[in-house]
Amino acid sequence: MSPLQHDPDWWRQAAVYQIYPRSFADSGGDGIGDLAGVTSRVPYLAALGVDAVWLSPFYPSALADGGYDVDDYRDVDPKLGTLADFDEMVAALHAAGIRVIVDIVPNHSSNRHVWFQEALKAPKGSPARDRYIFRDGRGADGSRPPTDWKSVFGGPAWQRVEDGQWYLHLFAPEQPDFNWKNREVRDDFLTTLRFWSDRGVDGYRVDVANGLAKDLPDPLPDDIADSADLMNGSSRLWDRDEVHEIYREWRKIFDEYDPPRTAVAEAWVSTAERRARYASPEGLGQAFNFDLLKANFDAAEFREIITANLAQAATAGTSSTWVFSNHDVVRHPSRYGLPRDTDENAWLLSGGTQPPLDRELGLRRARAATLLMLALPGSAYLYQGEELGLHEVADLPAEALQDPTFLRSEGEEKGRDGCRVPLPWTTGGPSYGFGAGSAHLPQPAWFAESSVEAEDRDPDSTLAFYREALRLRHSLRADEKLEWSDATDTVLHFVRPNGWHSVTNFGPDAIELPAGEVAVTSGPLDDGKLPANTTAWVVVR
Ligand code: NOJ
Repeated sequence: MSPLQHDPDWWRQAAVYQIYPRSFADSGGDGIGDLAGVTSRVPYLAALGVDAVWLSPFYPSALADGGYDVDDYRDVDPKLGTLADFDEMVAALHAAGIRVIVDIVPNHSSNRHVWFQEALKAPKGSPARDRYIFRDGRGADGSRPPTDWKSVFGGPAWQRVEDGQWYLHLFAPEQPDFNWKNREVRDDFLTTLRFWSDRGVDGYRVDVANGLAKDLPDPLPDDIADSADLMNGSSRLWDRDEVHEIYREWRKIFDEYDPPRTAVAEAWVSTAERRARYASPEGLGQAFNFDLLKANFDAAEFREIITANLAQAATAGTSSTWVFSNHDVVRHPSRYGLPRDTDENAWLLSGGTQPPLDRELGLRRARAATLLMLALPGSAYLYQGEELGLHEVADLPAEALQDPTFLRSEGEEKGRDGCRVPLPWTTGGPSYGFGAGSAHLPQPAWFAESSVEAEDRDPDSTLAFYREALRLRHSLRADEKLEWSDATDTVLHFVRPNGWHSVTNFGPDAIELPAGEVAVTSGPLDDGKLPANTTAWVVVR
């Protein structure tokens, strides 16, 4: 264990491990993961070799959206622990040389937040209502919602309250949107950022960063367009240029600390150019790039994405980010084990049977893609359980599902629970070592062989592979340059300045590797050659 080094640039090429706290480790035995559970696994995280962890929300919440419905931004959910547990966790992570990023959810609070409760009790037009987005409905009696907009989770984006007004919720009705034109809202988030920064938090992941600024006159014009899909600055709801004023204020707070606190925007925007605005050094500093996550396992697609994003990041004065899996998407071994253009939702609704999943191929490709990603300049975001090679749990029964997507779409969208099933730590026992009781989402029998205990014993396991790759990434990490070499339609080969080559074979036939020391491979070589769906790192001195 090495304590933290003072390094203001630590985030530029960090390997960041996302923890979904309710599903990581349960120290209390109530089936829900908690902060003391995270603390108990710090040695595991240190041995894995990650530079930072990002914790999805752990704040008090009724869990209408897995914790992204926050009741109180400056406390810990009693189901997950206390502020003292939080401090202990941060101290243990820092002592192990691991930084801490927390999730900030500024677009909406929960409907249990004191401000929203106050708004419900306050009259129309009151300062309490102005912290959220209340409008009158259409029609003589105001019984039609102010607009026909749909929420991201399905169903209308407006909910009516007792006195007849409506409030906007771009996500679930339990997630009322804040009014970011309101100074009190802005100031309260500055207080929150100081609160966690003072407690030693190193950075923030900013939820729905592209949603805060909205242009919604009161009253709303009758003919207002449903502009929810326009993501080029002209939408009334998304990615508006003035959102960056908010982040310039945040940056001033971040820069009060030494090293400055960092931030990464979750901003689903239309172009790399729009994304770069969030990543500006005067703003949040970094933004998620979901391009590889959305791509097919395809050399040409990968190359284009990598080239464009590295160029864009350099122009914006930031480093790129890379991610294949998180708590919102089907795990990447499963995506890569399905035929191209599979409708993932239909596959999930079939319980993971139609079309059948090629588990072995998917995992081979996922390992190859991950090794390629870990050789790229920029930061790599890993999602808990991917180091075990976990597939999506696609056959969760309807009665177990928690995601509001499933409930609000009346079962048409299966939702995101399949990647949120609690981790298997041991080969047996209640909840495979996750906790002393059963887990809050049911775990499948195949979790036994993918558990940490099982993979710890196997030198060829995905866990052993991740540990080795992350260890080598530390020792090989160079400046942020990358040069392409010998790329063909089916091979991606690039070199980092210190002679670190990464070669990925997307094609069907085994290929020769460059002469040098083979440092690690994502799967076995075939007579010294690199087989299909495999990546190798070769060091050429
Ligand atoms: C993005 C988060 O990643 C997702 O899990 C959540 O449902 C929405 N934002 C709403 O907060």
